[in-house]
Amino acid sequence: MTETLKKNSVAITIDGLSIEVSPTTSILEAARELEISLPTLCYKEGSRPDGNCRACVVEIEGERALAPSCKRLVSDGMIVHTTGERVDRTRNTVLELLAVESNLLGKDTINTSTDELSMWLDEYDIEPSAALTGAIQTLQPIDTTHPGFSFDPNRCINCDRCVRACQEEQVNGVISIKGRGSYSQVIFGLDSSVGKSPCVGCGECVQACPTDALIETSHQLADQSTDSICPYCGVGCALTYKTRHNKILAVEGRNGPANKGRLCVKGRFGFDYTSHKNRLTKPLIRKANAPKDISILNGSDVSNFDYSTLFREATWEEALQRVVDGFSRIKTQHGPSSLAGFGSAKGSNEEAYLFQKLIRTGFGTNNVDHCTRLCHASSVSALLECIGSGAVSNQVQDIQHADVALLIGCNPTVNHPVAATWMKNAVNTGTKLIVADPRNTEIGQFAELQLLMSPGSDIALINGMLHTVITENLFDQAFVDARTEGLDGFKAHIRLVFMQAPVAR
Ligand code: SF4
Ligand code: SF4
Ligand code: FES
Repeated sequence: MTETLKKNSVAITIDGLSIEVSPTTSILEAARELEISLPTLCYKEGSRPDGNCRACVVEIEGERALAPSCKRLVSDGMIVHTTGERVDRTRNTVLELLAVESNLLGKDTINTSTDELSMWLDEYDIEPSAALTGAIQTLQPIDTTHPGFSFDPNRCINCDRCVRACQEEQVNGVISIKGRGSYSQVIFGLDSSVGKSPCVGCGECVQACPTDALIETSHQLADQSTDSICPYCGVGCALTYKTRHNKILAVEGRNGPANKGRLCVKGRFGFDYTSHKNRLTKPLIRKANAPKDISILNGSDVSNFDYSTLFREATWEEALQRVVDGFSRIKTQHGPSSLAGFGSAKGSNEEAYLFQKLIRTGFGTNNVDHCTRLCHASSVSALLECIGSGAVSNQVQDIQHADVALLIGCNPTVNHPVAATWMKNAVNTGTKLIVADPRNTEIGQFAELQLLMSPGSDIALINGMLHTVITENLFDQAFVDARTEGLDGFKAHIRLVFMQAPVAR
């Protein structure tokens, strides 16, 4: 049989079904490939298996003790049973004890809860016995000090998923476990409230929690899910909006190529604007003689300003006609080149195409541009010139394969927090990070070398690095010969730059 095995694969049997998998596969993963269901609580796909809850135990022929299937890797010829008197009794006892720990004390609480633990209790028809429920400890207060989510220690089963999400995925290092054995307890920061801890509100712990001990403040039972992409920065995190009556109640990170289920505080909790009372839902037309000056606010908070003093509601037909009349008047009086159109980077390629079509054919002008011209024009032309494409060449996650990475002129933990998590992950697995920026940024704390240079000196720094690479022959000649052209001209250019550079004193 072994001869027929593919290289790097092992054959195992689970509940009488055979499968060949890679030796780095866990029993749980192999079982799932065979569509065999096993309860899991401390295990979360994408996170390091910890094997602490024992809900997923299986029996392996020839072994005395039951094994946690999430943590135990397969081996050739292994025969596994996921059911049987011993496995069923142990698994049910574990689930029952976890239900007690999570204060799910009867069918009512189990059936009305929607978390993973309740789901498994329901699936295996488990209700804690009276003897066990008598051991309940005094209830602790719920921590509601964070605006985005709350922490109910009474529901916590110490599965450690939130700790791994905070420490190992997001690398924020806020959550840990204090105490040992039955005294172990999830804590935030140096055992402060969540609100006073250094929590950045990414909500990864909330998404990881299988018991709703950590739960969104806005959590209510949503009845609809809609997949989308985060509307904020350009990382492109995939997410799912949980809604009810068209109102967003919660957001879940979805397994997309850029984020693998992760989100930051903006994508996770920044959705209240969609139902803000000041959101425009009907066309408004400025009233005659209404001032355009912000002084009308008279120092008051813009979000509380009553816009009806300046604008009146209109129908779409009236509003669109007003826009057409305004543009037509300008075009007639001053010619098409007096008009211009600026598209949005938030639109799709198709929308961008339609927009330029409107400006060119409808307005009759080529004055059409895009906000990216301001922030990316230089990098787009440099990328086009150097690699033939104006877009990035790699997923940010690829940084994990680099020995050394140089970050220059960026502040990813603030501007692109999910991208920053991949950078922090890379540092934790051995990538050396060099951060060059005038600001003492948070990502700088993860750097092997942090260059707090003077503002505007980045080009000098890059030229200096290139000069050193060339003069000290620090490049791979064979690679350069095979993949690039114009090296001699480039060397001459860098030499010239240095001959003209002012001498440092
Ligand atoms: S919200 Fe994010 S930073 Fe805050 S405790 Fe949870 S995982 Fe850590
Ligand atoms: S808060 Fe949730 S995720 Fe964290 S240890 Fe408790 S049950 Fe597990
Ligand atoms: S899910 Fe396997 S030990 Fe917890």
